[in-house]
Amino acid sequence: MNFETLLLSIEDGVATITLNRPEVLNALNQHVYLELIQAAEQLANDDEVRAVIITGGEKVFAAGADIRDMAMAGALDIALADRPSAKALEIIENMPKPVIAAIAGYALGGGCELSLVCDVRLAGENAKLGLPEITLGILPGAGGTQRLPRLIGAGKAKEMIFSGDFIDAQEALRVGLVNKVVPTEQLLAEAQRLAKRFAARGAVALRMAKSAIDEGLRMDLQAGLQYEHQCFSLLFATQDQKEGMEAFLQKRRPNFQGK
Ligand code: COA
Repeated sequence: MNFETLLLSIEDGVATITLNRPEVLNALNQHVYLELIQAAEQLANDDEVRAVIITGGEKVFAAGADIRDMAMAGALDIALADRPSAKALEIIENMPKPVIAAIAGYALGGGCELSLVCDVRLAGENAKLGLPEITLGILPGAGGTQRLPRLIGAGKAKEMIFSGDFIDAQEALRVGLVNKVVPTEQLLAEAQRLAKRFAARGAVALRMAKSAIDEGLRMDLQAGLQYEHQCFSLLFATQDQKEGMEAFLQKRRPNFQGK
Protein backbone atom coordinates (compact mmCIF):
# COMPACT_ATOMS: atom_id res chain seq x y z
CA MET A 1 0.00 0.00 0.00
CA ASN A 2 1.29 3.47 -0.87
CA PHE A 3 0.88 6.43 1.43
CA GLU A 4 1.40 10.17 0.96
CA THR A 5 2.47 11.07 4.47
CA LEU A 6 4.07 7.82 5.64
CA LEU A 7 6.69 5.40 4.42
CA LEU A 8 6.07 1.74 5.21
CA SER A 9 8.66 -1.01 4.89
CA ILE A 10 8.57 -4.62 6.04
CA GLU A 11 11.72 -6.67 6.49
CA ASP A 12 12.33 -9.93 8.35
CA GLY A 13 8.99 -9.75 10.18
CA VAL A 14 9.58 -6.15 11.34
CA ALA A 15 7.48 -3.31 9.87
CA THR A 16 8.72 0.26 10.04
CA ILE A 17 6.33 3.18 9.70
CA THR A 18 8.18 6.44 9.05
CA LEU A 19 6.26 9.69 9.39
CA ASN A 20 7.09 11.69 6.29
CA ARG A 21 6.13 15.39 6.31
CA PRO A 22 9.60 16.83 6.87
CA GLU A 23 8.59 20.32 5.67
CA VAL A 24 6.43 20.74 8.79
CA LEU A 25 8.54 18.59 11.15
CA ASN A 26 6.11 15.68 10.68
CA ALA A 27 3.18 17.64 12.13
CA LEU A 28 0.21 15.29 12.40
CA ASN A 29 -2.80 16.35 10.38
CA GLN A 30 -6.03 14.41 9.67
CA HIS A 31 -4.48 12.86 6.57
CA VAL A 32 -1.56 11.45 8.57
CA TYR A 33 -3.91 9.98 11.16
CA LEU A 34 -6.13 8.43 8.44
CA GLU A 35 -3.05 6.87 6.85
CA LEU A 36 -1.82 5.69 10.25
CA ILE A 37 -5.18 3.94 10.72
CA GLN A 38 -4.82 2.19 7.35
CA ALA A 39 -1.20 1.19 7.97
CA ALA A 40 -1.84 -0.01 11.53
CA GLU A 41 -4.88 -2.07 10.45
CA GLN A 42 -2.84 -3.66 7.67
CA LEU A 43 0.03 -4.52 10.02
CA ALA A 44 -2.26 -5.81 12.78
CA ASN A 45 -3.76 -8.29 10.31
CA ASP A 46 -0.51 -9.40 8.68
CA ASP A 47 0.76 -12.53 10.44
CA GLU A 48 4.15 -12.14 8.77
CA VAL A 49 4.64 -8.90 10.72
CA ARG A 50 5.70 -9.69 14.27
CA ALA A 51 6.86 -6.27 15.49
CA VAL A 52 6.34 -2.66 14.44
CA ILE A 53 8.59 0.40 14.67
CA ILE A 54 7.18 3.92 14.44
CA THR A 55 9.71 6.66 13.74
CA GLY A 56 10.21 9.96 12.01
CA GLY A 57 13.79 9.21 11.02
CA GLU A 58 16.93 10.73 12.57
CA LYS A 59 15.90 14.42 12.56
CA VAL A 60 12.43 14.71 14.05
CA PHE A 61 9.77 12.35 15.39
CA ALA A 62 6.76 14.72 15.18
CA ALA A 63 6.28 18.34 16.29
CA GLY A 64 2.67 17.75 17.28
CA ALA A 65 -0.77 18.10 15.79
CA ASP A 66 -0.87 20.42 12.81
CA ILE A 67 -1.57 23.84 14.33
CA ARG A 68 -2.66 25.27 10.96
CA ASP A 69 -5.52 22.74 10.90
CA MET A 70 -6.74 23.70 14.37
CA ALA A 71 -6.20 27.44 14.44
CA MET A 72 -9.66 28.46 13.15
CA ALA A 73 -11.68 25.56 14.64
CA GLY A 74 -14.65 26.17 16.94
CA ALA A 75 -15.61 24.09 19.95
CA LEU A 76 -18.31 22.22 18.02
CA ASP A 77 -15.90 21.43 15.16
CA ILE A 78 -13.64 19.74 17.70
CA ALA A 79 -16.42 18.12 19.75
CA LEU A 80 -18.23 16.63 16.77
CA ALA A 81 -15.19 15.70 14.66
CA ASP A 82 -14.57 12.07 13.73
CA ARG A 83 -11.29 12.17 15.65
CA PRO A 84 -9.12 9.99 13.44
CA SER A 85 -6.32 10.83 15.90
CA ALA A 86 -8.11 8.94 18.69
CA LYS A 87 -8.87 6.03 16.39
CA ALA A 88 -5.29 5.83 15.09
CA LEU A 89 -3.86 5.88 18.61
CA GLU A 90 -6.36 3.27 19.78
CA ILE A 91 -5.48 0.87 16.96
CA ILE A 92 -1.76 1.31 17.56
CA GLU A 93 -2.17 0.88 21.33
CA ASN A 94 -4.17 -2.31 20.81
CA MET A 95 -1.90 -3.73 18.10
CA PRO A 96 -1.60 -7.45 18.88
CA LYS A 97 2.19 -7.29 18.50
CA PRO A 98 4.88 -5.10 20.02
CA VAL A 99 5.23 -1.49 18.84
CA ILE A 100 8.45 0.45 19.39
CA ALA A 101 8.69 4.24 19.05
CA ALA A 102 12.13 5.30 17.81
CA ILE A 103 12.32 8.97 18.74
CA ALA A 104 14.88 11.38 17.34
CA GLY A 105 14.55 15.15 17.64
CA TYR A 106 11.23 16.67 18.66
CA ALA A 107 8.39 14.49 19.93
CA LEU A 108 5.95 17.21 20.96
CA GLY A 109 2.24 17.32 21.65
CA GLY A 110 0.54 14.75 19.39
CA GLY A 111 3.99 13.36 18.56
CA CYS A 112 4.69 12.67 22.22
CA GLU A 113 1.14 11.29 22.59
CA LEU A 114 1.74 8.96 19.62
CA SER A 115 4.84 7.63 21.36
CA LEU A 116 2.80 7.03 24.53
CA VAL A 117 0.64 4.39 22.81
CA CYS A 118 3.74 2.44 21.79
CA ASP A 119 4.93 -0.37 24.05
CA VAL A 120 8.54 0.77 24.25
CA ARG A 121 10.16 4.14 23.55
CA LEU A 122 13.77 4.42 22.41
CA ALA A 123 15.31 7.88 22.17
CA GLY A 124 18.24 9.25 20.22
CA GLU A 125 20.52 11.59 22.16
CA ASN A 126 19.01 14.52 20.25
CA ALA A 127 15.44 13.75 21.37
CA LYS A 128 13.32 16.47 22.96
CA LEU A 129 9.94 15.50 24.34
CA GLY A 130 7.16 17.69 25.62
CA LEU A 131 3.48 18.58 25.70
CA PRO A 132 3.52 22.30 24.80
CA GLU A 133 -0.26 22.62 24.22
CA ILE A 134 -0.62 24.91 27.26
CA THR A 135 1.49 27.50 25.41
CA LEU A 136 -1.22 27.51 22.70
CA GLY A 137 -4.06 27.94 25.18
CA ILE A 138 -5.23 24.31 25.02
CA LEU A 139 -4.36 21.03 26.72
CA PRO A 140 -3.01 17.74 25.34
CA GLY A 141 -6.11 16.25 23.72
CA ALA A 142 -4.86 12.95 22.32
CA GLY A 143 -4.45 11.12 25.59
CA GLY A 144 -1.56 13.11 27.06
CA THR A 145 -3.32 14.07 30.29
CA GLN A 146 -4.26 10.42 30.83
CA ARG A 147 -1.41 8.27 29.52
CA LEU A 148 1.52 10.45 30.63
CA PRO A 149 0.63 10.46 34.35
CA ARG A 150 -0.03 6.71 34.20
CA LEU A 151 3.45 6.22 32.77
CA ILE A 152 5.59 8.69 34.75
CA GLY A 153 3.38 9.70 37.69
CA ALA A 154 1.09 12.69 38.17
CA GLY A 155 3.73 15.04 39.65
CA LYS A 156 6.18 14.97 36.74
CA ALA A 157 3.35 14.82 34.18
CA LYS A 158 1.76 17.94 35.70
CA GLU A 159 5.11 19.74 35.65
CA MET A 160 5.50 18.96 31.93
CA ILE A 161 1.87 19.74 31.00
CA PHE A 162 1.55 22.92 33.14
CA SER A 163 4.88 24.37 31.94
CA GLY A 164 4.82 23.12 28.34
CA ASP A 165 8.61 22.77 28.68
CA PHE A 166 10.52 20.18 26.67
CA ILE A 167 12.76 17.63 28.35
CA ASP A 168 15.86 16.13 26.76
CA ALA A 169 16.56 12.44 26.22
CA GLN A 170 18.47 11.93 29.49
CA GLU A 171 15.72 13.57 31.55
CA ALA A 172 13.12 11.48 29.68
CA LEU A 173 15.13 8.37 30.61
CA ARG A 174 15.41 9.50 34.24
CA VAL A 175 11.64 9.98 34.63
CA GLY A 176 10.77 6.75 32.77
CA LEU A 177 9.30 8.38 29.69
CA VAL A 178 11.75 6.48 27.46
CA ASN A 179 13.28 3.04 27.98
CA LYS A 180 16.73 3.73 26.58
CA VAL A 181 18.86 6.49 25.04
CA VAL A 182 21.27 5.69 22.22
CA PRO A 183 23.48 7.77 19.91
CA THR A 184 21.08 9.20 17.33
CA GLU A 185 22.80 7.57 14.36
CA GLN A 186 22.29 4.17 16.01
CA LEU A 187 18.62 4.73 16.90
CA LEU A 188 17.01 2.90 14.00
CA ALA A 189 19.48 0.00 14.19
CA GLU A 190 18.80 -0.32 17.92
CA ALA A 191 15.03 -0.28 17.30
CA GLN A 192 15.48 -3.01 14.65
CA ARG A 193 17.61 -5.06 17.01
CA LEU A 194 14.99 -4.88 19.78
CA ALA A 195 12.12 -5.54 17.34
CA LYS A 196 13.88 -8.66 16.04
CA ARG A 197 14.43 -9.83 19.60
CA PHE A 198 10.68 -9.49 20.27
CA ALA A 199 9.84 -11.09 16.90
CA ALA A 200 11.87 -14.20 17.76
CA ARG A 201 9.66 -14.94 20.78
CA GLY A 202 6.40 -16.89 20.65
CA ALA A 203 3.93 -14.51 19.02
CA VAL A 204 0.89 -15.79 20.92
CA ALA A 205 2.64 -15.63 24.30
CA LEU A 206 3.85 -12.13 23.52
CA ARG A 207 0.38 -11.01 22.44
CA MET A 208 -1.12 -12.46 25.64
CA ALA A 209 1.57 -10.86 27.80
CA LYS A 210 0.83 -7.48 26.20
CA SER A 211 -2.87 -7.96 26.78
CA ALA A 212 -2.34 -9.07 30.40
CA ILE A 213 -0.30 -5.93 31.11
CA ASP A 214 -2.53 -3.45 29.26
CA GLU A 215 -5.89 -4.88 30.36
CA GLY A 216 -4.51 -5.45 33.87
CA LEU A 217 -3.59 -1.77 34.16
CA ARG A 218 -7.28 -0.93 33.57
CA MET A 219 -8.42 -3.25 36.41
CA ASP A 220 -7.91 -3.50 40.14
CA LEU A 221 -5.15 -5.88 41.25
CA GLN A 222 -7.42 -8.84 42.05
CA ALA A 223 -9.17 -8.69 38.67
CA GLY A 224 -5.82 -8.20 36.95
CA LEU A 225 -4.35 -11.27 38.63
CA GLN A 226 -7.36 -13.29 37.59
CA TYR A 227 -7.04 -12.08 34.00
CA GLU A 228 -3.34 -12.93 34.04
CA HIS A 229 -4.20 -16.48 35.14
CA GLN A 230 -6.67 -16.87 32.25
CA CYS A 231 -4.03 -15.75 29.76
CA PHE A 232 -1.43 -18.01 31.38
CA SER A 233 -3.78 -21.03 31.24
CA LEU A 234 -4.72 -20.43 27.59
CA LEU A 235 -1.09 -20.52 26.54
CA PHE A 236 -0.97 -24.19 27.56
CA ALA A 237 -3.20 -24.82 24.54
CA THR A 238 -0.48 -23.57 22.14
CA GLN A 239 2.15 -25.49 20.20
CA ASP A 240 4.63 -22.79 21.19
CA GLN A 241 4.29 -23.71 24.89
CA LYS A 242 5.05 -27.38 24.11
CA GLU A 243 7.93 -26.38 21.82
CA GLY A 244 9.36 -23.84 24.30
CA MET A 245 9.44 -26.26 27.20
CA GLU A 246 10.60 -29.23 25.10
CA ALA A 247 13.42 -27.13 23.66
CA PHE A 248 14.51 -26.12 27.15
CA LEU A 249 14.58 -29.74 28.33
CA GLN A 250 16.44 -30.80 25.18
CA LYS A 251 18.92 -27.92 25.65
CA ARG A 252 18.22 -26.39 22.23
CA ARG A 253 16.75 -23.14 20.91
CA PRO A 254 12.95 -23.14 20.54
CA ASN A 255 11.48 -22.87 17.05
CA PHE A 256 8.26 -20.96 17.68
CA GLN A 257 5.50 -21.02 15.04
CA GLY A 258 3.18 -18.47 16.62
CA LYS A 259 0.51 -21.13 17.12
N1 COA B 1 1.93 22.33 13.19
C1 COA B 1 2.09 22.92 11.97
N2 COA B 1 3.28 23.31 11.48
C2 COA B 1 4.35 23.10 12.27
C3 COA B 1 4.27 22.49 13.53
C4 COA B 1 2.98 22.11 13.99
N3 COA B 1 2.81 21.50 15.16
N4 COA B 1 5.52 22.43 14.07
C5 COA B 1 6.36 22.97 13.15
N5 COA B 1 5.65 23.36 12.08
C6 COA B 1 6.18 24.00 10.85
C7 COA B 1 6.53 25.45 11.08
O1 COA B 1 5.38 26.27 10.95
C8 COA B 1 7.55 25.68 9.99
O2 COA B 1 6.88 25.86 8.77
P1 COA B 1 7.31 27.10 7.80
O3 COA B 1 8.71 26.77 7.37
O4 COA B 1 6.30 27.05 6.69
O5 COA B 1 7.24 28.33 8.64
C9 COA B 1 8.28 24.35 9.89
O6 COA B 1 7.42 23.39 10.49
C10 COA B 1 9.61 24.33 10.66
O7 COA B 1 9.33 24.74 11.99
P2 COA B 1 10.13 25.94 12.73
O8 COA B 1 9.26 26.45 13.83
O9 COA B 1 10.62 26.93 11.73
O10 COA B 1 11.38 25.13 13.30
P3 COA B 1 12.24 25.46 14.60
O11 COA B 1 13.40 24.51 14.53
O12 COA B 1 12.52 26.92 14.68
O13 COA B 1 11.30 25.11 15.85
C11 COA B 1 9.76 23.72 17.10
C12 COA B 1 10.91 23.78 16.08
C13 COA B 1 9.31 22.28 17.15
C14 COA B 1 10.28 24.16 18.48
C15 COA B 1 8.61 24.65 16.65
O14 COA B 1 8.32 24.35 15.29
C16 COA B 1 7.36 24.47 17.44
O15 COA B 1 7.27 24.97 18.54
N6 COA B 1 6.34 23.75 16.87
C17 COA B 1 5.05 23.60 17.49
C18 COA B 1 5.13 22.59 18.65
C19 COA B 1 3.78 22.47 19.33
O16 COA B 1 3.28 23.38 19.94
N7 COA B 1 3.17 21.27 19.21
C20 COA B 1 1.89 20.98 19.79
C21 COA B 1 0.80 21.25 18.83
S1 COA B 1 -0.82 20.99 19.54
